[in-house]
Amino acid sequence: MKAMILELLRRKGDFVSGQELCELNNVSRTAVWKAIKSLQKEGYRIEAVRNRGYRLVEDGNSAPSDKGVDIYSANEIKSRLDESSGIREVVFFDSIDSTNSECSRRAEKGEEGGLLVVSDDQSAGRGRRGRSWDSPHGSNIYFSVMIRPDIPPSSAPQLTILMALAVCRGMEKVLTGGAYKTGNRKGAPSRHPASPMIKWPNDIVINGKKACGMLTEMSSEADFIRYVVIGVGINVRHRDFPEDIKDTAICLDDAWDMKVKRSILTAEILNEFGVFLTKFEEEGDLGYFRPVYHDRLVNAGRRVKVLDPKGEYEAVARGISEKGELLVETEDGSIKEINSGEVSVRGIYGYV
Ligand code: BTN
Repeated sequence: MKAMILELLRRKGDFVSGQELCELNNVSRTAVWKAIKSLQKEGYRIEAVRNRGYRLVEDGNSAPSDKGVDIYSANEIKSRLDESSGIREVVFFDSIDSTNSECSRRAEKGEEGGLLVVSDDQSAGRGRRGRSWDSPHGSNIYFSVMIRPDIPPSSAPQLTILMALAVCRGMEKVLTGGAYKTGNRKGAPSRHPASPMIKWPNDIVINGKKACGMLTEMSSEADFIRYVVIGVGINVRHRDFPEDIKDTAICLDDAWDMKVKRSILTAEILNEFGVFLTKFEEEGDLGYFRPVYHDRLVNAGRRVKVLDPKGEYEAVARGISEKGELLVETEDGSIKEINSGEVSVRGIYGYV
């Protein structure tokens, strides 16, 4: 109910009568009043005027770049999610072992897809290739989405490609308030210098440093996906990075010189992801997304080292295939397709 009230007050931008809020939520005036009190306690400034109703005076979380509070909660996220996000349920923890693990546990118990698990910290955050993911409290974003997509298991890695694009779009919106171009539209202002870029397949980088990592896990049978969990970790304001990553990691607040609101960014990413996923399920491959992905690919046109278990070699990254593999041009001019599960890629000069 609190999410609905917030969404309506924000949308109207003016007084909304208590009656309207009661009818919308199908509850009593006392229940509405209690919900308003509880929102005020959380940090929202809601004005109550007799015969006029309630008005959100100062939406602490409204402008992504202002100095207001960073209200990170299930209600704040829910109130900003569109229908098209496909998110049916938002579960928010103050602390948990890993949002990916929580999604899997719930999926194993039979919960439907469209589940979003968010936590303010993780005691056992997991990264790729068995690494851990440093997850301090109150300063970053850790969330996982559980979906049950109707695609073959071999297509699951393509969901990471979609999430990477969604993270970039969501970040770009927060960074620029939608002012900058996201593609090559004529007349649009050129891209912001601190725009997020993708280091294929799992990292989002800003100014050549990692701001976000993704971990996609799946439970499947030979020809059928039971569920997929896509976990996203974003460095928002924590800057005290562990020794091994301190030279290659960056947080958004530093990169953009603003105070990023975590609920807004989380919801923006999921709104984008839902739209991308629907399009992807219709199309069946990434053909439609290739040009926008190429535009974001930090490795594009750069020399990379391909760490193939059969032998390392250097090549130039050229984009992605319709199946999400990285296309690299080798010394002899031939194009090879690199599969993210089998091979990893490093920049020749530093991290990217
Ligand atoms: C990586 O770059 O190695 C991937 C990091 C993925 C971290 C996120 S944080 C939310 C979700 N829960 C986890 O335990 N891991 C992912």
